[in-house]
Amino acid sequence: MNNNFDVIVIGSGPGGYVCAIRSAQLGFKTACVESQKTLGGTCLNVGCIPSKSLLNSSEMYRKAKNEFNNLGIEAKNIKLNLSKMMNNKNKSILTLNRGVEFLFKKNKIIHLKGKGLISDKNIVTVISDSGKKVNYKAKNIVISTGSVPTSLSGIKIDEKTIVSSTGALSFDKIPKKLIVIGGGYIGLELSSVWRRLGSDVTVIEFLDHIIPGMDRDISNEFLKILNKQGINFKLDTKVTSVSLIKNKAIVDFTNNKSAIRERLECNKVLVAVGRKSNIGADISKLGIKLDNQEKIQVNKKFETSIKNIYAIGDVINKGPMLAHKAEDEGIAVAEIIAGQAGHVNYDVIPTVIYTSPEVATVGKTEKQLKKENIKYKVGKFPFIANSRAKINSEAEGFVKIIADQKTDKVLGVSIISTVAGTMIAELALALEFGASAEDIARTCHAHPTHNEAVKEAALAVDKRTIHF
Ligand code: NAI
Repeated sequence: MNNNFDVIVIGSGPGGYVCAIRSAQLGFKTACVESQKTLGGTCLNVGCIPSKSLLNSSEMYRKAKNEFNNLGIEAKNIKLNLSKMMNNKNKSILTLNRGVEFLFKKNKIIHLKGKGLISDKNIVTVISDSGKKVNYKAKNIVISTGSVPTSLSGIKIDEKTIVSSTGALSFDKIPKKLIVIGGGYIGLELSSVWRRLGSDVTVIEFLDHIIPGMDRDISNEFLKILNKQGINFKLDTKVTSVSLIKNKAIVDFTNNKSAIRERLECNKVLVAVGRKSNIGADISKLGIKLDNQEKIQVNKKFETSIKNIYAIGDVINKGPMLAHKAEDEGIAVAEIIAGQAGHVNYDVIPTVIYTSPEVATVGKTEKQLKKENIKYKVGKFPFIANSRAKINSEAEGFVKIIADQKTDKVLGVSIISTVAGTMIAELALALEFGASAEDIARTCHAHPTHNEAVKEAALAVDKRTIHF
């Protein structure tokens, strides 16, 4: 093989592999280095995909047990087979791994197996499992090495009793008692999975609300719903220590306001207090500039402080740590390298929490708009008044649209609904095109669909809902 490439991408997560495909499409001789056994990165192997598989299976199990009977579906002896559920998850991962391999072959992307290090401005050294080192020359290098879970000081993740999301996606038994530290994305999705499968789950969150960054009414409503599902919460609470006794864990925590100390014993502890960028020693050695959170600093063109070395995804100091943000950056950077106008609109990046119901948002929150001194109006529509949601017994949640007070331009949307993650695409498009609430209200929405609640929320901005 000729060891010279136009583009070498380091890391094959959603940012990296998409960047490699777009680079190849643009005519570049492209390689992608991956140190793990399979392609797809955290998202495909130990993140978004396995968690969504377990969220889907566990929700089916819960419905079969608690709801089928009401629908006239009488099933006796519904039993959980956890190892089969895990096998199904693993099979899904494998199918998608093969999908990425297929896309690499189709686009003639060379998959370099091993750990990629940037040894010089134009040299990527790949160290294989056997320790063999091979140098490859690259005109352009794209760092897409993602992120790794963080922990709290003094708490060591062993992936057995004290686990990160990786361990919590592969328990071989239902933990009788599970304590989750952190009421963010990972904490709440995995709490849902294990609660549905039978665990007694307690979430300990440092702040006085869950999902920091979302509007308070969304966060409060979501908390109520999760409480009703049987998940316990200790808010405004700081974990002070986690100790192991045999194969159990003792978690000590203190309420931030009352200073009351408590202790709980459990079978597993999930630490879900955020992730940090995955930076190798080679990055610091080369002098690539990092910000004070140890993320790679990039300019508008995703260039690092070394001109032909670019970075995208979780590893950079821009935007949220989300797979779809990384994908868009992967496409943008390939196009920028090709001299085109690659671009990512950071104001329109949807976020979704894949619980049931799901929570999805796009654009700005009320808090952000107040801070920016922008006057706005709000339209809300509850699913209790949406016919499709009602007949499906999915009447929890609402759609909330925030529009500019003067121009009516949609500035932000939040949705709590079983299908919020799918619904939010309509709103992302609306924001991208600069739609007004009136534009959405005048767009014909099929009946009966959950999306009619979007139209009604747009009507609510002008106080003229039809069904509520
Ligand atoms: P996160 O940032 O979403 O939530 C961490 C939570 O831990 C916050 O609520 C924070 O206040 C809390 N916390 C921090 N220190 C604490 C302490 N000492 N005691 C108690 N609570 C504490 O991080 P998470 O859930 O670990 O997710 C990591 C990343 O992965 C996020 O950036 C997220 O965007 C991404 N992700 C996205 C998903 C999705 O899009 N559905 C699913 C899973 C992860």
